[in-house]
Amino acid sequence: MVSMTVITADDLNYCIVSAATNRPNPISQCLVVDHHHTQTLTPFPPGSIVYSTTIKYPRPQYLPHPSYRPFVKFTETRSNGGRFASLAVMACALSALRLPPRPLRTLPPGPRPLPLIGSLHLLGDQPHRSLASLAKKYGPLMSLRLGTVTTVVVSSPEVAREFMQKHDTVFATRSTPDAVRDHARNSVPWLPPGPRWRELRKIMATELFAPHRLDAFHDLRQEKVAELIDHVTRLASEGAPVDVCRVTFTTSLSLLSRTIFSRDLTSLDDRGASKEFQNLITDIMEGAGKPNLSDFFPALAAIDLQGWRRRQSRLFARLHHLFDAEVDKRRRLQEHNSGEQGKDKDDLLGLLLRLAAREDDIAGLDGDTLRSLFTDLFAAGSDTSSSSVEWALTELLQSPLSMAKACDELQQVIGSRRKIEESEISQLPYLQAVIKETFRLHPPVPLLLPRQATTAIQIMGYTISKGAKVLINVWAMGRDKNIWPEPDKFMPERFLERSIDFKGADFELIPFGAGRRICPGLPLAVRMVHVVLASLLIHFKWRLPMDVQRNGIDMTEKFGVTLAKAIPLCVMATPT
Ligand code: HEM
Repeated sequence: MVSMTVITADDLNYCIVSAATNRPNPISQCLVVDHHHTQTLTPFPPGSIVYSTTIKYPRPQYLPHPSYRPFVKFTETRSNGGRFASLAVMACALSALRLPPRPLRTLPPGPRPLPLIGSLHLLGDQPHRSLASLAKKYGPLMSLRLGTVTTVVVSSPEVAREFMQKHDTVFATRSTPDAVRDHARNSVPWLPPGPRWRELRKIMATELFAPHRLDAFHDLRQEKVAELIDHVTRLASEGAPVDVCRVTFTTSLSLLSRTIFSRDLTSLDDRGASKEFQNLITDIMEGAGKPNLSDFFPALAAIDLQGWRRRQSRLFARLHHLFDAEVDKRRRLQEHNSGEQGKDKDDLLGLLLRLAAREDDIAGLDGDTLRSLFTDLFAAGSDTSSSSVEWALTELLQSPLSMAKACDELQQVIGSRRKIEESEISQLPYLQAVIKETFRLHPPVPLLLPRQATTAIQIMGYTISKGAKVLINVWAMGRDKNIWPEPDKFMPERFLERSIDFKGADFELIPFGAGRRICPGLPLAVRMVHVVLASLLIHFKWRLPMDVQRNGIDMTEKFGVTLAKAIPLCVMATPT
């Protein structure tokens, strides 16, 4: 008797071509493919002898595909004399079944890579959009080879939950961009999740972002918002347009600077040292988001072909110089005041210096760590918040009905008082919905910060290989029509009907990430973004310049670590 037989392996990225044996064995069924490629699942024919080989299939769910041909394998019934050969071949077949799947074969689906560059040519200058289009073809769990780096892209809430909740420990490590490699050694966003990272995060959580600390700095934030309103009033009286992102960016920097050093390193008047400080932060953020060959071909990273690491190091050095001056000044002050109780400042620097002097300083608060910590706070906490305010105002200007609803609500709740307390945000559901809708359409960090698999792991039937870089495309999730009806439309009302929040529990909306790496600055960012937007709306009527009114607002995005508006929103304000 001769037949053709295919036995499928249960991880299904291989299939074992073989025939059956007359010995008891764990493979009880085989797939028989006849000459017409008709497939039937049958029990093994008793007394068969086994020949085996492995063949490659691209994806399990397509198995077996009629167009796939090389199944020719012969099974013949033999006497007992052939039993040894039969067992040996069966052993091969079974061991092939037990072999760990070869990583490349079990990776999630994705585009076929070109030699050398892999799929780099598919990214373009808007990777979040290109990856979202590719995900429509390959699915919400997709893999690409970018240069030589295996990259896994997640584009649905269900898959994101697998990575950031169910297997959070495996993916809590970052894939660090080469341009920030030196800085990363002491930096919360890039440190692996070990004791130092935990300790530094704890300092942030307890000393900066805990409710009682945020309450302690409440007046300071009010002061900064008042300065912003004064500045915009001045611009309005001069008939000058307001660059919304720039003024809110400076406000965020100045607020952080006062919280950390009790001093303004920058101000809205925008001259001299203030300007330099702003430019440094902007340049660092831009540099960190630039595509870098060293990240796609790590073997070449040492030579830093495009010079991004050298450029970033120079920028960091200039910034550190400013911070060192603050630290030195404070140390001298402490020495001068030594022995005098209560003279130390109650800002973050004062606290960090006190912690650094303790024996049990687990965070290792040496000079380098302090510099990195300050850098991270300024870099992570400024343009994320300011671009959120800019996109929110942009969308409201394009949607007069939403603008009217937001202003009416403010009028009813705040009225003529005009000063918004943070505690009042909870009474402004429409404003909250506007911010959520803005985060959905314009997540400030569209691919979150990259993660890395610390071990190989099976997720949804695929193997994510150890060291694979993982990108979570929250931009794609925000534009998914299966989650959000009319996804490209700005409709804050959708959040009045659904109780979805952005604090990391509802994976449909995770602009701050989720799991143990979730943004620690969330509590501060939420207060600032709501209060700044509300204050701008209650104090001013906003109008587009004539040419923009005629041509419409250019909504083009500029991709980087943060997703900025390519053409800044410059609008005319009239005090109300
Ligand atoms: C609208 C404002 C903000 C947004 C949308 C935002 C978003 C994010 C995102 C997406 C991450 C990565 C999360 C992940 O991988 O799961 C992150 C991390 C981080 N953010 Fe924010 N952020 C904002 C404001 C802030 C502020 C105000 C600060 C501090 C002043 C801050 C400090 C950080 C730090 C230190 C990390 C690194 C956390 C870690 O890796 O352990 N962020 N942020």
